[in-house]
Amino acid sequence: MFVLASQGAGPATSLKVRSVRNVHRSAAACSDSLFVHRDSKDNNIDMPFEFTAENLKRAEAIISIYPEGHRKAAVIPLLDLAQRQVGNWLPITAMHAVAKMLDMPRMRVYEVATFYTMFMRNPVGKYHIQVCTTTPCWLRGSDEVMKVIHDKLGIKVGETTKDGLFTLSEVECLGACVNAPMMQINDNYYEDLEVKDTEEILDSLAAGKEPKAGPRSGRFAAEPLGGLTSLTSPPPGPGFMVRDDL
Ligand code: FES
Repeated sequence: MFVLASQGAGPATSLKVRSVRNVHRSAAACSDSLFVHRDSKDNNIDMPFEFTAENLKRAEAIISIYPEGHRKAAVIPLLDLAQRQVGNWLPITAMHAVAKMLDMPRMRVYEVATFYTMFMRNPVGKYHIQVCTTTPCWLRGSDEVMKVIHDKLGIKVGETTKDGLFTLSEVECLGACVNAPMMQINDNYYEDLEVKDTEEILDSLAAGKEPKAGPRSGRFAAEPLGGLTSLTSPPPGPGFMVRDDL
């Protein structure tokens, strides 16, 4: 609200002018993971990390794939190995161990670990559920998939169930749009989801079973649901469409 005061000889008067400006704001889209490290009781520089003897051998085998002078290219597979060893997440001391092994500045390793969302820099549950909510999945019902997870597990995006079994994340396209809606749980993709499929998958995991990965619609992969629409006849043999005199 602005106040305009008159400056004449008479008594000062004021004129109140109500100024209203409508500002449209879209909802802030916050990542469920910070891009900076904050020391916590579970993740700090005093936490010990060493590759197991078996993983050390694997790490050396991975490094040996890369030519001399390019060992640093092994940073992603080594971080992945460290994450799998810890169990679904990557402590800062594991990043330091990888940096030392590859003779890289720690900052270079932080840059990689914070860029790729496959690296979880804080503890997650035994089952890390990543629901894709990008346009194709959203159009095909990712909101319902999200809702059933919220309702069934009682957690919101970025939270972990009290029993430490499930962590929920919302992610961008995971490259399975033809089988939308879909979610990734640890290494498996679950596709063509409906509410009942999502419930069944969560129930199986809670009961300690691993549900079969892939489409839940009966499709083998990403073929049309109503049967093939192309490549329906046997392929032509050698010489097809080639001139007779050749
Ligand atoms: S939009 Fe969901 S997998 Fe691509």
